Amino acid sequence: MTNHTDRVVIVGAGIAALYAALTLAPRPVLVISPEPLGFGASSAWAQGGVAAAMAQGDAPALHLADTIRAGAGLVDAAVAGVVTTEAPELIAALAALGAPFDRDALGGYVLSREAAHGLPRVVRVGGDRAGAAIMATLIAAVEKAHHIQVMTGLLATGVLTEQGRAVGVTVEGAAGQGAIHAPAVILAGGGAAGLYAVTTNPNRIRGQMLGMAARAGAVIRDAEFIQFHPTAIDTGEDPAPLATEALRGEGAVLLNNLGQRFMLDVVPEAELAPRDIVARAVYVENQSHRRPVLDTRQAIGPDLPAHFPTVHAACLRAGIDPVAEPIPVTAAAHYHMGGIAVDGQGRSSLPGLWVCGEAACTGLHGANRLASNGLLEALVFGRRVGRAVGATVTTQGDAPAQITLSGQTMTPDEADIAQLRRLMTDHVGVVREAKGLTRALSALAALDRPDQPLAMQNMLAAATMITAAALLRRESRGAHCRSDFAQTLPRGEPSHLTWLQAQMIR
Ligand code: SIN
Repeated sequence: MTNHTDRVVIVGAGIAALYAALTLAPRPVLVISPEPLGFGASSAWAQGGVAAAMAQGDAPALHLADTIRAGAGLVDAAVAGVVTTEAPELIAALAALGAPFDRDALGGYVLSREAAHGLPRVVRVGGDRAGAAIMATLIAAVEKAHHIQVMTGLLATGVLTEQGRAVGVTVEGAAGQGAIHAPAVILAGGGAAGLYAVTTNPNRIRGQMLGMAARAGAVIRDAEFIQFHPTAIDTGEDPAPLATEALRGEGAVLLNNLGQRFMLDVVPEAELAPRDIVARAVYVENQSHRRPVLDTRQAIGPDLPAHFPTVHAACLRAGIDPVAEPIPVTAAAHYHMGGIAVDGQGRSSLPGLWVCGEAACTGLHGANRLASNGLLEALVFGRRVGRAVGATVTTQGDAPAQITLSGQTMTPDEADIAQLRRLMTDHVGVVREAKGLTRALSALAALDRPDQPLAMQNMLAAATMITAAALLRRESRGAHCRSDFAQTLPRGEPSHLTWLQAQMIR
């Protein structure tokens, strides 16, 4: 069933999607999401907060320098300059919308310290509830905004193209499937870390945006760079709950079952080294059966329940009292630094298709994202895409979209999804090598049967792009660690790959 709307269609309902929708005012917007607003988006699960140079003695130039250093030679300095410069102003804009940032007695922002930041720089809410609180603020604003129509229960399954241009999306819902033709399409539906068996991401976040865009012909950049968080709570829960990096910022230490503070033997910054380094060290301890734990007892002690309520609740769910005992941790797929290649305004290589949030690769994160730069990028590029689409696209009317669906839909087989996630963790994980990557590509090709539902085809395409890019990068850099190519080449080059090229490799 083909539907037409004069509204800009935004796929996704996290911080980037909602901020883009608000910025587009007064242009009419249709936000589509499989779940009610506030559910299912990675943004709502973010604990740490938003990085911004707000402290006395801090400056966007220092934030920029830390971003570039963490990114291991692949950060686009111009993009990072824009993002770090706009950061303080975006914090002020969110505060004006009502975001309840933690403040001190004088009204100043309370700032957390996180790894690889030279000084405390992360604006937070309620200790570890920044993502949920910012989402609640944006949802309240969206609900009051007359130009935004929200349709939930709709899953985007493809980008519609005509003569090399994006002209809409295909969707599925309870009543069947259909197509929506629109003046512009913005993909803002999250990253790809849920493609892994061990992940901190919500279940829905499995590379569908990347898969849809790649299959429509868009160029994908730096797909091989998946960030693993070093301190996911290791109790078998799926997804694995996060123990925020801010705990280490407060002095929590990593120990193994021999009582050794192993990070001291790795780098001088120890637990506050860039995330790729800490994640690899935690992975090595786990592989060697030395069972790493995060010990907050000395540094935070009885303050933990009040200062980190989300972490405390997750520990209690697993029968751990973090005030009295250390937290078992594992490295878990957390964030996709790569994604759909975009320019400084969020334009993809496919005319008519715009992308923001984790689905996009702007060049900000390079090979290793600096902590709490993810929500920041979602805000900066949500606003940039909103402004650019608003300035470029003509919308005629603001009648509410009526979407009619028909026919049957198919849901992916859970056993296929489980196999896919296992393949990614086993062969495209923290440490990779050519043999495992090649094996993964063949298994992905075998799973990619013509009868697979569209949602599964998108996941498989995203997994294939990540794996093919990992095979092609014959060096170790940032989060991409090859046991068969341990050296880092003198010059860092971003990777660009199309679906056609990836299919030829597999
Ligand atoms: C964390 O709170 O440790 C995660 C923050 C982030 O991924 O930026």
